[in-house]
Amino acid sequence: MSVVLSAVGFAACMSMIMATSATAATTLGASAAEKGRYFGAAVAANKLSDSVYTTILNREFNSVTPENEMKIDATEPQQNQFTYTNADRIVSHARSRGMQVRGHTLAWHSQQPGWMQNMSGTALRNAMLNHVTQVATHFRGQVVAWDVVNEAFADGSSGARRDSNLQRTGNDWIEAAFRAARAADSGAKLCYNDYNTDDWTHAKTQAVYRMVQDFKQRGVPIDCVGLQSHFNSGSPYPGNYRTTLSSFAALGVDVQITELDIEGASATTYRNVVNDCLAVSRCNGITVWGIRDSDSWRASQTPLLFDNSGNKKPAYDAALSALNSGNPPTNPPTTPPTNPPTNPPTTPPPGGPGSCSATVSLNSWTGGFVATVRVTAGSSGTNSWTVTLTLPSGATVSNAWNAQRSGNSGTVQWTNVSYNGHIAAGQSTEFGFQGTGSAAGMTPTCTAT
Ligand code: G3I
Repeated sequence: MSVVLSAVGFAACMSMIMATSATAATTLGASAAEKGRYFGAAVAANKLSDSVYTTILNREFNSVTPENEMKIDATEPQQNQFTYTNADRIVSHARSRGMQVRGHTLAWHSQQPGWMQNMSGTALRNAMLNHVTQVATHFRGQVVAWDVVNEAFADGSSGARRDSNLQRTGNDWIEAAFRAARAADSGAKLCYNDYNTDDWTHAKTQAVYRMVQDFKQRGVPIDCVGLQSHFNSGSPYPGNYRTTLSSFAALGVDVQITELDIEGASATTYRNVVNDCLAVSRCNGITVWGIRDSDSWRASQTPLLFDNSGNKKPAYDAALSALNSGNPPTNPPTTPPTNPPTNPPTTPPPGGPGSCSATVSLNSWTGGFVATVRVTAGSSGTNSWTVTLTLPSGATVSNAWNAQRSGNSGTVQWTNVSYNGHIAAGQSTEFGFQGTGSAAGMTPTCTAT
């Protein structure tokens, strides 16, 4: 009898555990993490002493972007005199709580210190490259992604570069900045970031697309595109936003929604943006540009997820429920790009068994790391794949995305999830994991069916 009772008790206990684990996440960051993504906020150092602000920040977000503190005027106010106090405060606040950091921004025509505004030509080019090198080196291992270059294209229909002192140093200033950033920090994802690049049909979007395509073809080190996504009546959320995200992703770069705010904070529009990101596997996450409406650069538009008192708005509930109910991401764009892409990503999965290879890149810091594993299909493509990695002694995996794992230390096997088992011949997919300890020296092996 006691055996029967304990079996019943065990079953009841198991069903409680399963019910608990099936409970929807209650914060944006936790829910996004379940989808292998982040949900971040722009943070101002001078608000870290505001407990209403930090309570929301610490509870809801798992990524942080310094709103102004890493910009050129903040970090190099006098030439070759670097100040990191405020940026370091934000980085330390974030990382000590397990949040990741997006760096913003290394090279930009705006918010240049006076000394740089007055420079031109070779002197300016060298000063810009020195700035990129110094700042990316300072934050090496602490910043997951950098907005290396910000807002370098003109508005309107020209598709041209924006005129600026940096642009006048030569058209190759952007790729020079990316190369300097890679040399300084090989572990950070390097992004190009811009606004009004959300509508796939806009000339500015197309111009950025062609630059990224060109960079990928020529081996310029670019890993991601940031869409600022400041939506308002003059620049509304476009119905083809998902096409824009998936079209950039199809070039072989990640996409990140970097400065989201929506005039009036329509719950429907916030839900659409979340759903669009979830639908594109290379959309890594969303950052909102501030926490409460009163923190916004456009406070009068009440564009954020929390009101001035820190209460959740309907848009918050919409974003969270979209995250919670979102399906796993699907890879190919739902609508094929309509404009210039010369190599649209329409190749269907091959379906046949094949071989694969895997490489791992690490973003490490003292006591922790983020590993990104790239799985590349051989000449037959894959239906499914398994990557085996042996972690060094003392290293433990704390969370992972885009793959299922067999354990959290020692030899760990990583198997595709439903949406990324099919890889076309020669194409790649990525999964990742975060952990404690040191993961240096791992050599992945890959098997495929
Ligand atoms: O801190 C000083 C304060 O001491 C002074 O009294 C006050 C007087 O104007 O200025 C304060 O600094 C302001 C700073 O924000 C902090 O509030 C600057 O003037 C102001 O120019 C600065 O604006 C920032 C803006 O970038 C500058 O271009 C916004 O906070 C920031 O949200 C905004 O962020 C940009 C992204 O970097 C790029 N994409 C667009 C986005 C929105 O403009």
